Amino acid sequence: MDNREYQALKTALLWHLDAGADQPFAEAPQGLIGPAQEQAAPKGDDYGKNESEGVVPRSVHPEASPDVPLGAAEARTESLKLALAAQTLAELRAAIAGFDGIGLKATATTMVLSDGNPEAPVMLVGEAPGAEEDRQGKPFVGESGLLLDRILASAGLDRKAAEPLRSIYISNILNWRPPGNRTPTPAEVMVSLPFIERHIQLVKPKLLIFAGGVAAQALLGSTEGISRLRGRWFDYLPQTPELRDGAVPIPALATFHPSYLLRTPAQKRLVWGDMLMLLEKRRDLEII
Ligand code: URA
Ligand code: URA
Repeated sequence: MDNREYQALKTALLWHLDAGADQPFAEAPQGLIGPAQEQAAPKGDDYGKNESEGVVPRSVHPEASPDVPLGAAEARTESLKLALAAQTLAELRAAIAGFDGIGLKATATTMVLSDGNPEAPVMLVGEAPGAEEDRQGKPFVGESGLLLDRILASAGLDRKAAEPLRSIYISNILNWRPPGNRTPTPAEVMVSLPFIERHIQLVKPKLLIFAGGVAAQALLGSTEGISRLRGRWFDYLPQTPELRDGAVPIPALATFHPSYLLRTPAQKRLVWGDMLMLLEKRRDLEII
């Protein structure tokens, strides 16, 4: 984008950040994205409730459980092997589609891998598909996806944009919908981690955004709550040791999950701040 557009987005974000201080229900910055509409309360979209619970895949019991039928350790060995072998996104998709180590595959309708442009320099990782994603086979296409699109638009990004610099690539930690939209179990996260980390490695984004506590904690290997993790740049390196060889750190920004914002609109203000950080970083790195 040119400098004028950059300044316009920045001004809109700063204005909303300011206005939001007294108007906690401030809607999306309207810079270039047209009038915002009030969101309906989310139905069946319950992610992000586990504010400060650790969801870090460390101390997972290696026995079989319904969510990870093979037993977590065995399933993890298998997902890691498949992830390492995938040399392209198409191979990774086939590997995930054929992987039976996660019980969710049996209850979900569709596998949800990604949306947007894999050539985009920015990649966002969320938690898991919900009901609408499960129907359509694409991430963030339900209620929280609509809000996510508006949040991203405030930083000049659009997953449908043809131009990579304006586009974004979107995936999740889990590729299958947890029944009733429950939070993924630590075992599910642990078993899925090699896939999403290989996914990141194949896409090679210049910047990462982690939407919500589950994604941020899993990919940063942290037990800190999302309120502490958000609004900061981290150097992302794979948590999966086998993927670390030659890995280059990627600047990663954690932010609140849009489903959480639907329930807690007062927190949107902080997300405009996060989008401002994203806008400025893209300018610094000349990927804007
Ligand atoms: N919530 C997520 O984390 N991901 C989706 O794809 C949809 C809702
Ligand atoms: N809890 C989460 O897991 N994510 C959020 O964004 C907010 C609360």
